[in-house]
Amino acid sequence: MSRPVLSLFGSAAPPVQQFPDVVRRAQAAGFDVCVGLTPTSARWLKSEVSLLEDLTGHPVRSEYKQPTEVDVWPKADVIMFAPVTFNSMNHWALGLTNHFVIGVVAEGIGKRIPTVAMPCVNAAYVQHPQFVRSLETLRNAGVSVLYGPGGFEPNEPGTGRPEGYPWHLPLAAAVRIVESAPLGSDHGIAGADRWNPVRTNRGLVPGPSRLLGRFVWIRVDQGAGSGACSCKAEEGVDAERRGVTTTPQMRAPDPASPP
Ligand SMILES: Cc1cc2nc3c(=O)[nH]c(=O)nc-3n(C[C@H](O)[C@H](O)[C@H](O)COP(=O)(O)O)c2cc1C
Repeated sequence: MSRPVLSLFGSAAPPVQQFPDVVRRAQAAGFDVCVGLTPTSARWLKSEVSLLEDLTGHPVRSEYKQPTEVDVWPKADVIMFAPVTFNSMNHWALGLTNHFVIGVVAEGIGKRIPTVAMPCVNAAYVQHPQFVRSLETLRNAGVSVLYGPGGFEPNEPGTGRPEGYPWHLPLAAAVRIVESAPLGSDHGIAGADRWNPVRTNRGLVPGPSRLLGRFVWIRVDQGAGSGACSCKAEEGVDAERRGVTTTPQMRAPDPASPP
């Protein structure tokens, strides 16, 4: 059974160095993660690429494929682009797609792939007149840009952010997107069969949206004489109907909580 696919993209600002941890957090939230990097951030993460590939089970991509090559990633249900540099924000907004990840997010607008972006820019960059234009262009195009109050707030140049980069914000936004995706939509969860509980010879097992919820154990009868087995399902609106039992220690960590 497939999990919703998160394309996790990063450009060359310091928080990209935390990608191994971010991948683990996204996986703990239930995502199948594919990592894409700008060429500069790929150079920064050179020594981490094999770790990222081991963690995700997918190649890390920073270059366009050759015309004869096939796509190596599953189709994205949601894109999370963070950190987005000043440079990458402007390339994206202006449609300058010489880098692979910018090409994907630029096309993603037209393909209506739900996309969450969080810049990492200092207070000097944001005074450049293009920054606000890029922000507005991307938001008007439907990209959820987490910038300003409730999102990334710029620091003074060279000071860093003592509280760290707020990774929990784009992760929570990505979870909300897939949980609220309409059934049968082309992106964000392709069809009802991917979202509804699936009946197997082990009883009801959760569809992928269930992977994003808090886990509980449900009892599933296997038929006369077989007794009962347990499998994981979501605590949700139909939990009571399915006879869900839950204890607090069985719950997965809330993906929206800060580190
Ligand atoms: C140590 C270091 C830190 C940087 N931090 C930032 C940053 O926080 N935000 C930003 O927009 N650019 C930052 N830059 C500049 C970008 O790395 C540079 O503009 C690069 O060309 C961005 O390329 P990309 O957008 O293709 O990844 C930093 C550069 C260095 C060397």
